[in-house]
Amino acid sequence: MNNETVIVLDFGGQYNQLIARRVRECNVYCEVHPYTLSLEKIKEMNPKGIIFTGGPNSVYDEASPRYERAILELGIPVLGICYGSQLMAYLLDGEVATAPVSEYGKTEVAVDASSKLFDGVAESTICWMSHTDYIAKAPEGFKITATTPVCPVAAMENEEAKLYAVQFHPEVLHTQEGSKMLHNFLYNVCECTGDWKMDSFVEKSIEAIREKVGDGKVLCALSGGVDSSVAAVLLSKAVGKQLTCVFVDHGLLRKNEGDEVEAVFGPNGNYDLNFIRVNAQERFYNKLAGKTEPEEKRKIIGEEFIRVFEEEAKKIGAVDFLVQGTIYPDVIESGLGKSAVIKSHHNVGGLPDYVDFKEIIEPLRDLFKDEVRKAGLELGIPEYLVYRQPFPGPGLAVRIIGEVTAEKVKIVQDADAIYREEIEKAGLARNIGQYFAALTNMRSVGVMGDFRTYDYAIALRAVMTSDFMTAEAAEIPWEVLSKVTTRIVNEVKHVNRVLYDCTGKPPATIEFE
Ligand code: XMP
Repeated sequence: MNNETVIVLDFGGQYNQLIARRVRECNVYCEVHPYTLSLEKIKEMNPKGIIFTGGPNSVYDEASPRYERAILELGIPVLGICYGSQLMAYLLDGEVATAPVSEYGKTEVAVDASSKLFDGVAESTICWMSHTDYIAKAPEGFKITATTPVCPVAAMENEEAKLYAVQFHPEVLHTQEGSKMLHNFLYNVCECTGDWKMDSFVEKSIEAIREKVGDGKVLCALSGGVDSSVAAVLLSKAVGKQLTCVFVDHGLLRKNEGDEVEAVFGPNGNYDLNFIRVNAQERFYNKLAGKTEPEEKRKIIGEEFIRVFEEEAKKIGAVDFLVQGTIYPDVIESGLGKSAVIKSHHNVGGLPDYVDFKEIIEPLRDLFKDEVRKAGLELGIPEYLVYRQPFPGPGLAVRIIGEVTAEKVKIVQDADAIYREEIEKAGLARNIGQYFAALTNMRSVGVMGDFRTYDYAIALRAVMTSDFMTAEAAEIPWEVLSKVTTRIVNEVKHVNRVLYDCTGKPPATIEFE
């Protein structure tokens, strides 16, 4: 779409996506690429600026990820962060060494506010440090613009060459004025104008989709989640009734969710599109009967989903385009290769082998989750849908430990609905990354009135997370937990115990299976 672009070159740091999100929050379009992106390609992309990320390596190790020096001679502004700053020093014949004292955590940094990078930043400011190496001597032509008592070059720059480097991490929130520094880099150094905004994204996307689709037929698998909902509405605004959405209710959705999706997207809903709801509950329950192994359950659901969708697609006949709700984090390839698969994730949309179509449309391919939400609001999608929590493709099946039955689905749906209602009432919903109830396959003895019971335990989970790769258990106030517990044991049959999951990720995962 020809927006001004900043490239983040990934050297294996933990915060590479975060850097890109922060840049985009400043209304500048930003892409993350592995450090192996060629110089030719970079020139072709003609970016307004380049950011080198941090990374776990030491520049002097043979195997460390590096880039050729020529990247610093293009006249394009470069900001090096942490490892990226050391790399810049190394490439330009400065000196990098193991610091006598490693710095980790919030650190007071003295900055030179006359630098374009630190315009408006306090002379003493808290920054997040995490390094064992440091720049011992800045390259020739560089001015030192920040220091700490143990770090002689906490920031350096060559204003003329438009090269800037910071040892700390401006992208993390612990760096109190980090956003201001990134903003300064983008606007004062790269001279961006800030043309990345969701209202124009929506407008331009609708035009681009219209042009691409012409009078073609479009098919979309709608799950009711944020991504597929936003994709569907974007398509419906662009091509109206040329779009058919298929919503497979696999009987593993949250309480009332199937009806809610139908109310919004169905014939009495808000949008101009063809909506098909497939009630496939029994089919899924039958396939899952007797199955207890988590990966097997996931595979069954993934495959059955494809079957059902394929059958519907056949009824519709050949289509020209298949919509997928892919978002940018799915597209980013890590600078140091993909990590191990812990669970086989199933997303509505991974279907192309089985459906007769010519081309895939991925209208959200360039967006981060928070941008998908903003686009959703721009499109007038109801807030409760836009802010819906992430929900796994295999649905409640991974929140029911062991065998899935219709009865267990009902138990977990009812308990989860109570939990969500109370969290919302307590005003906590927007502060917690993800929260839900799960059904353990543990039954235990209880007493209800004068009778012995032998019933299930519900586990409540709530985590704080920004990336869903790591998470901490949320500290839900005791009054809320206690109220939820009372309501669940009173209102949900076959539950006599409620447990709270205090585990972070790692070592646990967010879902139970
Ligand atoms: P885990 O359990 O792996 O979950 O810590 C991390 C995040 O991913 C969601 N999740 C899924 N999302 N298909 C999805 O689209 C899946 O199969 C799936 N499994 C887990 C989970 O809800 C959490 O947000």
